[in-house]
Amino acid sequence: MKFLPEVFSINSAVVAGELVIGGCKSSALAKEFGTPLFVIDEADFKYRINGWKSALESNFGASAGQVYYASKSFVSIEVAKWISDAGIGIDVCTGGELAVALAAKFPADQIEVHGNNKSEAEIAKAISVGVGKIVIDSMQEIERVNRLAAAAGKVQRVLLRITPGVEAHTHEAISTAHEDVKFGFSIASGAAWRAIGETEAATNLSLEGLHCHIGSQIFENEGFILATTRLIELSAKFRDEFKRELSELDVGGGYGIAYVEGDKTFDPDKVMAALADLVKSECARHSLKVPKVSIEPGRAIAGPTTTTIYEVGTTKDVELDGGKTRRYIAVDGGMSDNIRPGLYGAEYSAILANRSSAASPINSRLVGKHCESGDIIIREIDLPSDIAPGDLLAIPATGAYGRSMASNYNHMLKPAVVAVKNGSARVILRREVEADLLALDVVEAPRSIN
Ligand code: LLP
Repeated sequence: MKFLPEVFSINSAVVAGELVIGGCKSSALAKEFGTPLFVIDEADFKYRINGWKSALESNFGASAGQVYYASKSFVSIEVAKWISDAGIGIDVCTGGELAVALAAKFPADQIEVHGNNKSEAEIAKAISVGVGKIVIDSMQEIERVNRLAAAAGKVQRVLLRITPGVEAHTHEAISTAHEDVKFGFSIASGAAWRAIGETEAATNLSLEGLHCHIGSQIFENEGFILATTRLIELSAKFRDEFKRELSELDVGGGYGIAYVEGDKTFDPDKVMAALADLVKSECARHSLKVPKVSIEPGRAIAGPTTTTIYEVGTTKDVELDGGKTRRYIAVDGGMSDNIRPGLYGAEYSAILANRSSAASPINSRLVGKHCESGDIIIREIDLPSDIAPGDLLAIPATGAYGRSMASNYNHMLKPAVVAVKNGSARVILRREVEADLLALDVVEAPRSIN
């Protein structure tokens, strides 16, 4: 167990044996706000937004489109304000995410609406508030968005989500652009071309460009290259057929981050430089103007900014075959605040946060408090052998898909999110209380419904 700066937020350090984030001691945070606690490094979050924004702008110049922060990775009203203050856009994929953006007074034309099965109510709401773009995902949706835009007396700007037939090298559940997926219109089957024709013919839709998102937590460049190449090829075919050029190319998100020692990290500038080279050369090959290029990073902005602090409740030594021992260390959260290990086999690291320890390391398994043996946060980790109830453990890089995928399983209360900066801390999402859970229970007299 050692402090790995590459997996913690930028303003994290171990000072006098204790993990300090944004100038706030772990022990003080736990005492003030309770545990489990998501601690978000506000300055780091803003730094990462700007990193992607300036990388896009400096490498694409006049062809820079928009950075749309993928709010599914983590969003709250306060975070949406950080995003809009930084001058980037937001990607929402449900009415709920749209509601958060609107509550934050996010400029509607900077909102991009995703989703493979948007309801009519969601589409109508998006159109009525004037969202910038709707990314259409199915044939039915072409008709629905067109009809609802007509009813609102508007022409809606849209992108088409294209499935370029790319196998992204990541977990199957978060790989999204091979053929056998629910997302988008496949190029290979001809669906993409049919969707383009129907969208062009729709009177209340303005087709601005093509979109793809090949998956998440990706480190290899080939998938991005292949997908972008195929989209540009399709844009050229569009120009040949419809005698106009598409103005936008949105290549989605998916940039991987470091969770454990040895993981790579992406330098936004290098990624955007490579993307710009590719887009420029492919467009030149097809005699196309370089369109506005947009991206949708979620994890790469939110992920590294947040650390979860848990309190240890119990420890238990279990004899393994061959005479070895495994120490189970149970904390006060688990699969309800971090489902990623259970769902994707995701790996995390951990450190003792409230003190240093010279005790010898022991093979440990970090588990939660749920009634499931699969409630494992870290399957195998060497931790100091003197870790005891009351100690605090910190798990870095939980900002993306941690709180946003949290559940109330076992009627657990979702943890608070606290923003830290220069030694100050403030709650941006409060901890649930039992009354929040009980508020959903109702006792109704039966009513006839036929
Ligand atoms: N754009 C679209 C259309 C997406 O579907 C996603 C993520 C993103 C952008 C952002 O991807 P990112 O940059 O965060 O990789 N729950 C999974 C990840 C699912 C990602 C879903 N879509 C996980 O915890 O790993």
